[in-house]
Amino acid sequence: MRTICFVISCGSILAATPEFSKDVAPILNKHCVQCHRPNDIAPMSLLDYKSARPWAKSIRRAVTARSMPPWFADAEPGHFSNDPRLSKKEIETIQAWADGGAKEGNPGDLPKPPTYVEGWQLGKPDVVIDIGEDYKVTAGEDAYEHFTVSTNFTEGKWIRAAEIKPGNRQVVHHVHVLLVQDNLEAMAAASTLNAPGLSDYLIKDGKLTRIRMDSPVVNDACASDAPALPFLRGYQQGGLAAFLPGRPPDVFEEGTAKWLPAGAKLEFVIHYARTSKKEQTDRTSVGLFLAPAQPKQVLQRMDLRNFFMRIPAGAANQEVRRCHTFDRDTELLSFTPHMHYRGKDIRYELVHANGRKEVLLNVPHYDFNWQLVYRLRQPVIAERGSRIEITAHYDNSANNKANPDFKAVVRWGDKSEEEMMTSWIEFLERPQYTGRAK
Ligand code: HEC
Repeated sequence: MRTICFVISCGSILAATPEFSKDVAPILNKHCVQCHRPNDIAPMSLLDYKSARPWAKSIRRAVTARSMPPWFADAEPGHFSNDPRLSKKEIETIQAWADGGAKEGNPGDLPKPPTYVEGWQLGKPDVVIDIGEDYKVTAGEDAYEHFTVSTNFTEGKWIRAAEIKPGNRQVVHHVHVLLVQDNLEAMAAASTLNAPGLSDYLIKDGKLTRIRMDSPVVNDACASDAPALPFLRGYQQGGLAAFLPGRPPDVFEEGTAKWLPAGAKLEFVIHYARTSKKEQTDRTSVGLFLAPAQPKQVLQRMDLRNFFMRIPAGAANQEVRRCHTFDRDTELLSFTPHMHYRGKDIRYELVHANGRKEVLLNVPHYDFNWQLVYRLRQPVIAERGSRIEITAHYDNSANNKANPDFKAVVRWGDKSEEEMMTSWIEFLERPQYTGRAK
C-alpha cells in the first residue's frame, strides 16, 4: 500500500469533522462537567448534547482563550497534579467541532457518563456533621458566622478526606472548617479572631472583622528589620477543610491523614455573601472520610498571612511580602493563595539553604472569582534553613475593573472590599530527611 503525503500533512486532508458523541463528550467529561452539571457552580450543564449545543460558540471561545477550565499558574503542564488545562489537540478538536456545525454524531458513540452521588462529589461520607441549626440569613446580609459543634467522637479518628457541602448555594460564598481543641492555645492559633496579640489591632464591625486603620504598616514582612508584630513570623495552624469557589474537596495525599482527637469540636466559619434579596436558610455540613489505618505521615497546613499590609489609594502595583524560614525538614505539597478584588499577582519562591532559588508557584494574573489550590506533582523539600518568600502585588487603581473603590486606602479585613494576603501551604514533616539541597 502506498501513502501519499502532501506538504500540509497526511491526516488532516481526510480527517472527519469531529462530532459531539465520539470526540467532544470525552473532553467535556474529563475537564468540564464536574462544574458544568445540574446543581453545581457553573451556569449551564455540558453533560449532554442538548444542553451543550447552544453553547458551542462560547465553548469554542472559552477553550481557545484558555479561560476555561479556570487555571492561573504559569507552570509547565505536569508541574501541578491538578492542572486541568486542555491539550492543544483537545482544543483543536473542540474548535473543529464548533466550526463544523457542532454535530451530534451517533449517540451510540457516547462514552459512559461520569456518575455522581447526589450532593457529595466524593461519594457517601463515613460521618456527616452539620452546623446544628437551620440558620436564617437576613436578606442582603454580608456576614461571617461562626458555629461550633461537637463531633461526639469518643475516640480519635484519622481523616483521609473532608468535603464541605454548602446547605444553600444562593447565600454561602465560602466555608472553613477548623478543629477546635479544648486546649486554648491551639484554638487561638486556629482562629484569627482570637489570635494572641492580634486582637488589640482588630475591630469587630457587626459580623465582620478588620484591622484598625491606624495599626502599624508592614508591607515587606520579609525585611530583616520588620517589626515583631503578631504573625509576621512563624505560621498559624491551618484548618481542616475549606469550600471555596472552584476548589475541589480536600482529599489528602495517599498515605497521609489528618487527626481528629476524641471529643474534638469543629468550628464552621461561613461567609454569607450579599447575594439574596429574600431571607434564606442554610444548614451547611461537612462529610468526613475515615482512613482505614494510621497513616505514615500526618498532613498539616501552615497559614501565612500579612495582617499589616496597607495599599494606598490609587496604587497600581503595591507589593506585599511574607516569608517563613523552615526550622526543620519539610515536604511541601500544595499552595492556596488568597487575596480579594485588588489582588493582581502572587509568586512563591523557595530559597534553599545553599542559596539556590526555586519558583514554587507563579500566578501572573490573579482572579478573586477563583480560589484554586495548586498541588505539586512532586513534593518539594524545604530543608531546614531554607526560606519561602511570597511576593504579591495589588492593583488599587481605576484600571482594575474588579476594584470596588480606587479612592480607598485598603487594609486587612473580612469584607471582599477590604484585602487579605493569605497563603495556605499543605506539608508533611520529614523527620528522617537528611539530604542536601540540589
Ligand atoms: C472549576 C469549575 C469549572 C470547570 C472545571 C469549568 N467551568 Fe466553565 N464555568 C464555570 C463557572 C462557575 C462559570 C460561570 C462564571 C464565569 O463565567 O466565570 C463558567 C462559565 C463557562 C462558560 C461561559 C462563560 C463565557 O465564556 O461566556 C463557558 C462557555 C464554559 N464555562 C465552558 C467550559 C468548558 C468548555 C469547560 C471544560 C473545558 C469548563 N467550562 C470547565 C465553572 C467551571
